[in-house]
Amino acid sequence: MKTPNPRAHFLNLLPLLVCMFGAIAQLGSWELLQENAGISAMHMALLSNGKVVMFDRTDFGKSNLSLPAGRCRSDPNELALTLDCTAHSAEYDPVANSVRPLFVQTDVWCSSGAIAPDGRLIQTGGFNDGDHVVRVFQPCDNCDWEEFPSGLAARRWYATNQILPDGRIIVIGGRRQYNYEFYPKSEMTAATFLFRFLAETKDANENNLYPFVHLSTDGNLFVFANNRSVLLDYGGNRIVKVFPTMPGGDPRNYPSSGSSTLLPLRISPELSAIPVEVLVCGGAPTGSYDQAREGQFVQALDTCGRIRITDPSPQWQIETMPVARVMGDMVLLPTGDVLIINGASAGTAGWEFGRNPVLSPVLYNPVAPSSARFRTLASTQVPRVYHSTAILLPDGRILVGGSNPHVYYNFSGVLFPTELRLESFSPPYLSPQFSRLRPNIIFPASNPATIRFGQQFQVRFSVESMVGAEGITVTMVAPSFTTHSFSMNQRLLVLQNTMLTVLSPNVYQANTVAPQSPLLAPPGYYLIFVVHQGVPSSAIWSRISA
Ligand SMILES: *[C@@H]1O[C@H](CO)[C@@H](O)[C@H](O)[C@H]1NC(C)=O
Ligand SMILES: *[C@@H]1O[C@H](CO)[C@@H](O)[C@H](O)[C@H]1NC(C)=O
Ligand SMILES: *[C@@H]1O[C@H](CO)[C@@H](O)[C@H](O)[C@H]1NC(C)=O
Repeated sequence: MKTPNPRAHFLNLLPLLVCMFGAIAQLGSWELLQENAGISAMHMALLSNGKVVMFDRTDFGKSNLSLPAGRCRSDPNELALTLDCTAHSAEYDPVANSVRPLFVQTDVWCSSGAIAPDGRLIQTGGFNDGDHVVRVFQPCDNCDWEEFPSGLAARRWYATNQILPDGRIIVIGGRRQYNYEFYPKSEMTAATFLFRFLAETKDANENNLYPFVHLSTDGNLFVFANNRSVLLDYGGNRIVKVFPTMPGGDPRNYPSSGSSTLLPLRISPELSAIPVEVLVCGGAPTGSYDQAREGQFVQALDTCGRIRITDPSPQWQIETMPVARVMGDMVLLPTGDVLIINGASAGTAGWEFGRNPVLSPVLYNPVAPSSARFRTLASTQVPRVYHSTAILLPDGRILVGGSNPHVYYNFSGVLFPTELRLESFSPPYLSPQFSRLRPNIIFPASNPATIRFGQQFQVRFSVESMVGAEGITVTMVAPSFTTHSFSMNQRLLVLQNTMLTVLSPNVYQANTVAPQSPLLAPPGYYLIFVVHQGVPSSAIWSRISA
């Protein structure tokens, strides 16, 4: 029998102590990045060049940002201004902290999108003259939107998109659309496929919008609408599993806008042995929308439901958040924690219907004991209610923008003025007190690093003060498209058995394996982070393909 070495024992405890003190001392911090980004960031997506595309709607009236090169948009079908010389889309550069106006031709209001495997942002649908349009944005320094007017077979307003293992995008639902379709189309795929579940789950106001969609490791899609969820075999156009109704039976989708994310997928060699878990948090109780119409702003839901969808008979586990929240965003952090940010504690989504903004984000640690998963972090000064967004940046900060509960831009004389401000939230792990623990990736140096499914690869990094090899993980995060409290395509993979080699003092090499299947990681761009003792590096970009 081996006697434990007391010194080794102390060293094992050290990271724990470091984390504990850090946790006590740190609540994260907020920074105002832009006083006036010119538009209200209702939709946001991170591109593979590190820039962020954002847009609101063309029928908001005049924004505070002029269109590039003195151009104007003349559109006889427009509902607000038929001649509009202001922008309703912009590109934000988080490194330079600068805004570049973009020119969107048709209405992108309440639309959806995804980053395609080749890095293009594919945006689908919207309202009015934009409801059948597919728009493409290439990541390059002076690119702008390209529009394809009949890109969609059906009108898509409040739909949800997901990247599939074969690289196509599925576009699901939208208001009064109980079907789905694919982009791009081939002659082999019919225009739309009936999806009765969406008709069955709509409420009396025909709402259950922006369904929560997650790709499972068996290739099927988990779809949550209103208070029910199913597993959809989209190819066979059939439901292969019906999950129990979430306890309480309250709705979680628009306008009861809760949020949802797939929890980190911890990769192991056996695909079918990888548990897939979904988390759904917050929302507004049954009837809240009708009550808000009557001027009654009901307290939001303070519960989360967590379900392991790969179990033979999955059950919801209910957990309670420190604060009730509707219209919150859930952001997967590079560490595998979930940040719940933005939103309000009363009312619902919809024009003028949110009350009591929640100014503090909450951190959820999915692997902590159930009594210790939530932690309330530092609060902002800026309410972010309806039409607000939050996304992860490559440097580990969260970009926060938007909030406009009004039919037009209203900057004064209203409860929650239209927000043109952009902020960043730096989670506790970015605190300077952890800088000695922070890894800095030095290899691969190519941008993006190209990797193949199942390929072994190396990540080299430096770190000033290495606590121990057990504390190192390599994670991959897909860039998501965020609107209306849901990040489409959000996905984090914890790569398997990272072996560590010491190359020189303070320089290490992690030997790891890329996800073995597009069922785990659909092809395309991912951020790669090295996490040491809960402190992530800045990311490098990778591109995974067959
Ligand atoms: C935006 O423009 C409006 C109208 O010109 C102006 O009243 C308002 O102060 C501007 N808002 C910001 C945040 O710059
Ligand atoms: C789920 O929502 C539907 C439609 O709003 C409602 O009729 C039903 O009662 C809810 N289910 C439960 C268990 O509360
Ligand atoms: C917002 O602005 C519009 C246009 O200036 C105005 O008509 C409206 O009354 C304002 N208030 C709300 C709550 O929309």
